[in-house]
Amino acid sequence: MTDLSQPGLPGALPDKRQVAASFSRAAASYDSVAALQRAVGMNLLTMLPSDLEPSRWLDLGSGTGHFSRALAERYGPASGIAVDIAEGMLRHARGRADDAQCYIVGDAERLPLGEGCVDLVFSSLAVQWCNHFAQVLDEALRILRPGGVLAFSSLCVGTLDELRGSWQAVDGQVHVNRFRRFDEYQHSCAASTLETLTLQQLPHVLHYADVRTLTHELKALGAHNLNPGRPAGLTGRARLQGMLQAYEAYRQPQGLPATYQVVYGVLRKPVA
Ligand SMILES: C[S@@+](CC[C@H](N)C(=O)[O-])C[C@H]1O[C@@H](n2cnc3c(N)ncnc32)[C@H](O)[C@@H]1O
Repeated sequence: MTDLSQPGLPGALPDKRQVAASFSRAAASYDSVAALQRAVGMNLLTMLPSDLEPSRWLDLGSGTGHFSRALAERYGPASGIAVDIAEGMLRHARGRADDAQCYIVGDAERLPLGEGCVDLVFSSLAVQWCNHFAQVLDEALRILRPGGVLAFSSLCVGTLDELRGSWQAVDGQVHVNRFRRFDEYQHSCAASTLETLTLQQLPHVLHYADVRTLTHELKALGAHNLNPGRPAGLTGRARLQGMLQAYEAYRQPQGLPATYQVVYGVLRKPVA
């Protein structure tokens, strides 16, 4: 069982209990604002090796279960497991899928699954919330059968930089979630026993009419700022106005850009 009493790295990533609570609260609103998450997960599905025929797959950080349902459709008779740290997300997903899937509350860094029990670990936009990505790779290695595949997407430094930069123009506080650098993903994958088939960073830019729509969307996703060091309580009106004004400097003909730097990785467990 995951020990959620362990805080995240001081000054780095949020406390896992807060991550779980935030995503549980967001379960009902998540799907209505998950355009980026849909697009990224779809891209990741296209990167799965075409010869892969899993008899059991795992959707890790499955959220509302959109991609669990896509995997169930793609891999027909295979059985599926959905793991998420947020119980509220799993409850939401369970109501919308068939019974062939199994739902387990668990942490990607300490999976409640036995050795060599799945052929595919699919994880879209979840591992950016984990303190130690190398630990996620170790866990994937442990639960995959030889020849099995880990396919993940995540976010890296450069994500939401317009929002970060606009806040920096008015104060020095942590208003935006922190992300790992792409080269840290590269080093962890290179150091793992898993064989890297694909590892790439692709930018994805969304446009908004105004900043409030972006920040409301982040909240509805459960992905708003949860970092240690974030400002406590309400942000002052003057600072908020300053941030909104600073963001206008980024405006493009399509609207205000919000850049996501997306990491895609596909790795295989060696057969021998
Ligand atoms: C942005 S959502 C993505 C959900 C889904 N994969 C999708 O693409 O729609 C991130 C999910 O990861 C889950 N999550 C965050 N940290 C996790 C961890 N350490 N272990 C398992 N799940 C985690 C969250 O609860 C949330 O449901």
